[in-house]
Amino acid sequence: SNDNFVRIFEVGPRDGLQNEKIQVPTSIKIEFINRLSQTGLKYIEVTSFVSPKWVPQMSDHVEVLAGIDRIPGICYSALTPNVQGINKVVSLGKKGVDEVAIFSAASETFSKKNINCSIETSLQRFNDVVKIAREKDLPVRGYVSCVVGCPYEGKIKPSQVVPIIKKLLDMGCYEISLGDTIGVGTPKSIYDLLKEIQSNDIPSNKLAIHCHDTYGQAIANITQALDMGIRCIDSSVAGLGGCPYAKGATGNVATEDVIYLLDGLGYETGVDLNRLIDAGQFITEALKRENGSKVARALLCK
Ligand code: HMG
Ligand code: MG
Repeated sequence: SNDNFVRIFEVGPRDGLQNEKIQVPTSIKIEFINRLSQTGLKYIEVTSFVSPKWVPQMSDHVEVLAGIDRIPGICYSALTPNVQGINKVVSLGKKGVDEVAIFSAASETFSKKNINCSIETSLQRFNDVVKIAREKDLPVRGYVSCVVGCPYEGKIKPSQVVPIIKKLLDMGCYEISLGDTIGVGTPKSIYDLLKEIQSNDIPSNKLAIHCHDTYGQAIANITQALDMGIRCIDSSVAGLGGCPYAKGATGNVATEDVIYLLDGLGYETGVDLNRLIDAGQFITEALKRENGSKVARALLCK
């Protein structure tokens, strides 16, 4: 593997849109994903197979997947927290996804609020999800939320995170995305977390970092993670997003800002910043929002 290459995992259509109060038209989602597919991104998380009562915004998952133009070489993925979700994905065949994700948390309270069960119960359910996914040759990504802080429990210790990472890897996840769900981390807490993970012999190529920018620390935290060998970064174009079960949490770090950082540091990403800015402008205009990417705002003024 090339140590200079950083994989960008675009979560805008899922994490970015899931918290929008007004239903975003399916046609807008499809156009957004199609534009993202033209930027050089290779991983796009497009929707969730969760309860439509819990997250109504993602209830058009079948229509979104049926409508997008799939570019060969791009991995389109979706969240599947339970057997019902993975079975639905499987039933869609070629109109399904290339990869699925399960999502746990390092905080017991967050787990209950987000997926309505304890961490332990969720891991049992995920085991069943992974079994079905593997029978169908679908790679499974694992998320751990609240890796440094929880909106309900406050500070989270690295020792609370490591066992969950291990269980998800043992289950068969190919990669674990470490979620700073409410963006409270600083380079120090990210350092402490990654040190503890590495001292447990978990290789960096099994990890991704998923930063929300609530406190403006995301770019600093990503730089820390890069320095410690992480080579996969989750982000949302235009800094869209927020988790419905994490009050006050704002969007993911903006993909444009991450690409600007990586370009500046001399990493390769294969992503075209200008095309990314176009995709970000498209969705912010559709949502009648200000663009959440500082880099996009700066470059669009020129
Ligand atoms: P539950 O109510 O405990 O489950 O929900 P249930 O099995 O009792 O089912 C209740 C109802 O939901 C039933 O419908 C099911 O059919 C339906 P009813 O009989 O009442 O009409 N249902 C489903 N429908 C469609 N697809 C499904 C499905 N499962 C059940 N897969 C459940 C448990 C997990 C489903 C629920 O709590 C849920 O959907 N939660 C939402 C989770 C979510 O999407 N959270 C946001 C994403 S995670 C995140 O943002 C963090 C992340 O970005 C990383 C980070 O930032 O840290 C990943
Ligand atoms: Mg998130």
